[in-house]
Amino acid sequence: MLVLWLASATPTSAAVKKIIFDTDPGTDDALALMLALNSPELDVRAITVVPGNVTASQGLENALRMVSLANRCDIPIAAGAQHPLFQKLITAEFWHGKNGLANIELPRSKCKMDSRFGPDLILQMVHAAPHEITLVPVGPLTNIALALLKDPSIAPLVKEVIIMGGSISGGNVNASAEANIYNDPEAAQIVFRVGWPLTMVGLDVGDKTLFSKKYLDQLGQTHGPVNDFTYAVGKYLIDLSAQFGLPGSPMYDPLAVGVAIDATLVKSPEMHVDVETRGEFTRGETVANRHGTVERNVLRGDHYVIEGIDKVTPNAKVCVDVEADRFLQLFVSRIKGK
Ligand code: RIB
Ligand code: CA
Repeated sequence: MLVLWLASATPTSAAVKKIIFDTDPGTDDALALMLALNSPELDVRAITVVPGNVTASQGLENALRMVSLANRCDIPIAAGAQHPLFQKLITAEFWHGKNGLANIELPRSKCKMDSRFGPDLILQMVHAAPHEITLVPVGPLTNIALALLKDPSIAPLVKEVIIMGGSISGGNVNASAEANIYNDPEAAQIVFRVGWPLTMVGLDVGDKTLFSKKYLDQLGQTHGPVNDFTYAVGKYLIDLSAQFGLPGSPMYDPLAVGVAIDATLVKSPEMHVDVETRGEFTRGETVANRHGTVERNVLRGDHYVIEGIDKVTPNAKVCVDVEADRFLQLFVSRIKGK
């Protein structure tokens, strides 16, 4: 019977999901990466770095040090864009610490960066394994957009795209925009318009998934390099959140990885989502059409008359609810003792 149990517990090689993790590390990026590297359901085929929380160079250094900590120098790590497509970069050391990793100085990396440009690495890997690669971008979508602009033929060859980004219930940067979209709205517009299987893991569910002292204490009972680093980042985030009256830290990026591991963690109805790029107050907003229709206005003399409604085609699964505790327990269970 034990053999049957083991068989059911460990995913078969066919069930293991190949992912490319695109990141702007970043404290919650760090937690997401530690989860991805310690989950048997995922095979991290590459890590591409994008500027966002920190500059491109700082992000690359952070990624190299984290992958070295996890003893995974076998994974290609590539630098990508150096700035958003059409605007200046906005870095977030205010939230993530001076070095972007909660001011934690990890040992210098044993790993070497891959010489390829991140978007090119994405293109090569997708063409080499058509319909097998899931993209998990958890920063601004600049690298993903650059890959699509260079070679749009990858769109139908990517298995799935699971982004941390967007919101249909207001922003975190301002009233309307979530940080990853706000940092490169044109890139996000390209990614939402291309028509591939896209899941949007936004603030709507990230804000319900708070890493609190209850979970931190569980990590404090065990030790290991990944465990202790995750504990230190988690403590930094909990202390920071407490300064703003929050009982825990939103697990934005880790939840995107969680959805890649187990999509049943979230409720994600299909919607049509547009990205606002011109609004004075709404640039960077992900505008979701919940009811899936638009009114048809017809000019009749000196005014328009509503003469029907037209369906809109969904282009994303938008996560609107989450089993937060089940995800947080999964997160802790994967990190404990590593
Ligand atoms: O809005 C949250 C997102 O912005 C997360 O990905 C965080 O790491 C920052 O990049
Ligand atoms: Ca991020």
